[in-house]
Amino acid sequence: MDATGKLLALLRDPVGLEPLELDGDALVNRISQRRYPICNSIPVLVDQPGLGPQNLRIQKMYQWMAKGFDIANGVGNFLSMGGITKFRRRLAAELGLKPGCRFLYTSIGTGLDLPFLAENLSLDSLEFIGLDLSMEMLRQCQMRIRRYARSALLLQANAEKLPLANGVFDVVLHMGGINQFDRPAEAVKEMVRVARPGARIFVADETKKVVKSQYQGWNPFTRSTFKDMPTDFDPRAWVPADITEVAYQEMANGRIYFLTFTAP
Ligand SMILES: C[S@@+](CC[C@H](N)C(=O)[O-])C[C@H]1O[C@@H](n2cnc3c(N)ncnc32)[C@H](O)[C@@H]1O
Repeated sequence: MDATGKLLALLRDPVGLEPLELDGDALVNRISQRRYPICNSIPVLVDQPGLGPQNLRIQKMYQWMAKGFDIANGVGNFLSMGGITKFRRRLAAELGLKPGCRFLYTSIGTGLDLPFLAENLSLDSLEFIGLDLSMEMLRQCQMRIRRYARSALLLQANAEKLPLANGVFDVVLHMGGINQFDRPAEAVKEMVRVARPGARIFVADETKKVVKSQYQGWNPFTRSTFKDMPTDFDPRAWVPADITEVAYQEMANGRIYFLTFTAP
């Protein structure tokens, strides 16, 4: 059985969260008869009409940026004097993944974290779902998945509307991207919804200082996509109000923030 078949019980219709069934090259909601295609082993579980204006701009930007993304990450790592690599390694260790864990990574991108995650355990010992809004980023990720986590399932999905069952993941990670979402607080709420009570939730992205100086500033490739993005955000404000114990740190010379909390 392939990864979609094995993890089917966790998948839901992104519109109404009903269970899905496999039907040839598609997933089907038997109640509404809505069908979601599976393209090259990646189920496309996006409610495209439900995407916001920033989601659409981002989806478009990564269509052409996906192939150069790893190079851009290398430049960022150089500018932070290896800070991004150090951060990825530390994050991977802090997740505390154990064999048998159900692990969700939202906005997995090209899978740059996979080698670091694999330093701590065999990723095939997990039930692992990685998702992203961009099919082009997921195609790049598929190459790394083949090497590091053959049993993982990749989904095309909007992190603000997870096509996943309630309360099923032991560890939920989002790294990079949430600053660019239309509804970042909704994305954090969704991470909490799919997490088991007591699960650890991790949210990391670049600080507002980087958004302002780099993405809206000197970087000509990102300036127009990011021009309307708020730069006065505080990621702690995205955490649901009933969660009071939230750890917040900045790392990599103040370029990356890192939020951690436990699902209620
Ligand atoms: C800066 S990249 C980070 C990728 C990867 N996590 C990393 O650390 O290298 C941001 C990613 O967020 C994804 N993304 C943006 N908006 C999204 C959304 N609403 N839902 C899911 N993924 C989204 C983009 O497609 C892109 O792959």
